[in-house]
Amino acid sequence: MLKDRNYIDPSDFSVKELDEVMDLAQEIKERPSDFCHVCDGKLLGTLFYEPSTRTRFSFEAAMLRLGGQVIGFSEPGSSSVSKGESLRDTIRTVGSYTDIITMRHPKEGAPNFAGAYTYVPLINAGDGGHQHPTQTLTDLFTIREAHGRLDNLVIGLCGDLKFGRTVHSLIKAMSAHTGITFVLISPEELRVPEYIKSTILDAKGISYKEVERLEEVIDDLDILYMTRVQKERFFNEADYVRLKDSYILDLEKLEHAKEDLAILHPLPRVNEIANEVDDDPRAWYFRQVKNGMFVRMALIMKLLGVDHA
Ligand code: CP
Repeated sequence: MLKDRNYIDPSDFSVKELDEVMDLAQEIKERPSDFCHVCDGKLLGTLFYEPSTRTRFSFEAAMLRLGGQVIGFSEPGSSSVSKGESLRDTIRTVGSYTDIITMRHPKEGAPNFAGAYTYVPLINAGDGGHQHPTQTLTDLFTIREAHGRLDNLVIGLCGDLKFGRTVHSLIKAMSAHTGITFVLISPEELRVPEYIKSTILDAKGISYKEVERLEEVIDDLDILYMTRVQKERFFNEADYVRLKDSYILDLEKLEHAKEDLAILHPLPRVNEIANEVDDDPRAWYFRQVKNGMFVRMALIMKLLGVDHA
C-alpha cells in the first residue's frame, strides 16, 4: 500500500511496489483521457530550492493532467526561505495547504529531514549529489519499454559517476534485479563513490567493472546511460574545465554498439551526446523525458490513494 507514504530514496519502495507504479504509468500512457479527472480538487506543492526543467515541469504537468492543481516556487528567494525560515517550518506550512509535496534541495539528506516533519506525502525531486528517485522510476520504466525486462542487462554508466545522483539512484534500484552487470565509465576523479560500491555493489555481489574509455566497452552494452559533468558540483573551476568534455558520444562511436542498445540520459546535456545521435533509433532520451511525466502521474495517484474508473 503506497497511500500516504514518502518517496525519498529508491529503496523506499520494493520491486513489487515499483512495478505497480510502472504498470499504472503504462495504463496512463496508453489511455490518458481515462485519468484526466482522477485528482480533481487535489493540490501539489512544488518546492524547488535548485533549478530544474524536466522534474519540475513534469510534476506540474502530471498533476494538471490528472485534474489537480499546483502551487510552489522555482527558486526559494521568492519565499520566506529568504528571511531565514527553516526547512522544517516551510514543509509544515506548505503541507497545511496541499495534499502532496515534491521538493528538490541542494543539500544531501534534506528530504530525509523534511520527511520527518511533513503532514502530507513528500517526494524527493533530487537532493544534491545523493539521490533522485523519480528520475530512477523514469529510467526503469524506459529500460523496461526498450528491452521488455529489468533483469539480465549490461548497463554502462558514463560520465560524472561521483556527483551524479541519478547514477547513484539507478545503481541502487537496478541492484534489486538479477543478472545485472554494471560497466562504470568515468575519469578516475569522477568514479562512483566508495560507499556505493561497498554498501550496494560489493554487499550484494553485483558484477561491475570500472574503465576510463567508452570505446573499449560500448559493444558489450544493452543500456548506455550518459551523464553530464555537473559544473555546479565542482569546487574548482579548473577541474571542471579539464573534465567537462571527457566523453562525447557520436555516431562514429556508435558504429560498434549493439543494434538494440538503448541510450539514456537524465538531461540536461551539454556536450556529452552530439546532436547527430538524436535521430538514431537507439537514442531513447527524449522518450525518457516524456515517460517522466507518466511515471510521476502514477506516483502522485498511488501516494494520494486515488483510484481510477
Ligand atoms: N533529469 C533532471 O532532473 O532534469 P532537471 O534538472 O531539468 O529537472
